Amino acid sequence: MNIVIVGQGAIGSALAARCEIQGLAYKVMGRTSTLQCIEWIAYQGERLAFLPESLEPHELKGNELIILPLKAYQILPAVTALKPYLTEQTMLLLHNGMGTQSEVEALLPDLPLALGITRMAVLKQDTQVTETGLGGSDLGWALAPANKANREQAEHLLSSILAPCQWHTQIAPLQWAKLAVNAVINPLTALHNISNGELAQPQYQAQIQALNEEIATLMQGLNIPGAQDIPSRLAQVINATAANFSSMHQDVLHGRPTEIDYINGYLLKEAERLGLALPHHLALWQKIHARQA
Ligand code: PAF
Repeated sequence: MNIVIVGQGAIGSALAARCEIQGLAYKVMGRTSTLQCIEWIAYQGERLAFLPESLEPHELKGNELIILPLKAYQILPAVTALKPYLTEQTMLLLHNGMGTQSEVEALLPDLPLALGITRMAVLKQDTQVTETGLGGSDLGWALAPANKANREQAEHLLSSILAPCQWHTQIAPLQWAKLAVNAVINPLTALHNISNGELAQPQYQAQIQALNEEIATLMQGLNIPGAQDIPSRLAQVINATAANFSSMHQDVLHGRPTEIDYINGYLLKEAERLGLALPHHLALWQKIHARQA
């Protein structure tokens, strides 16, 4: 089973570097057939310059493990473009937010699909990719490959390139735990133009509490476990990533699209199904959309 990494973003480039170092067979599907030569700097300081081998969608053979470390809003267009060439492949989605699983399943109901959350800390500046922290990943199958050998091989490959990595029979509660963190940190840091750590200041606490309570009510309504842990997990992430600027902060700052529709927007869609109102999340969703416009 060969690995195919879609894109040369920060996480995609980090995964390519790990494939290189581990001697795994992999190729990269870029926006164009000319890929960037990556200068990788690992957390412990080891350096590696490498040019990944490129793969075009029509060159897919059948038994690849395709990893999509893209922004949530890029998943549907990427999978739609790949669809005519997909046969027996297995796919992993790796991004902030939720809602892409149902988009992919609507397009390809039989595609073996894994979902992942990663805490890898990677900074990409032009062609230089620096591992700024050592974070693990959590993975689970939305639909495991029917063939046992394929499943074992995919799990083995993903566990080694996303190490330290844990597989879960139920990935949804972990996705929700991450979603709850992103739904507060990302829009607030983007709107106030602050680092994650500045959210610990007193003036943000009332709004954070209201946002947390809305997510907790929604999770309870959907029978997702872990609602009571939201405030402590959020405080822990704010503390652990205090010096960082969130991905949405970066996106707004650079005038790029954001993942708001897959973070707070996803919460609003799920709340609508239950007839719940989330006024604080709605306000953040509207303000980020106004900024993007
Ligand atoms: O999106 C991000 O930036 C990260 O998921 C997190 C955890 C908010 C840290 O910055």
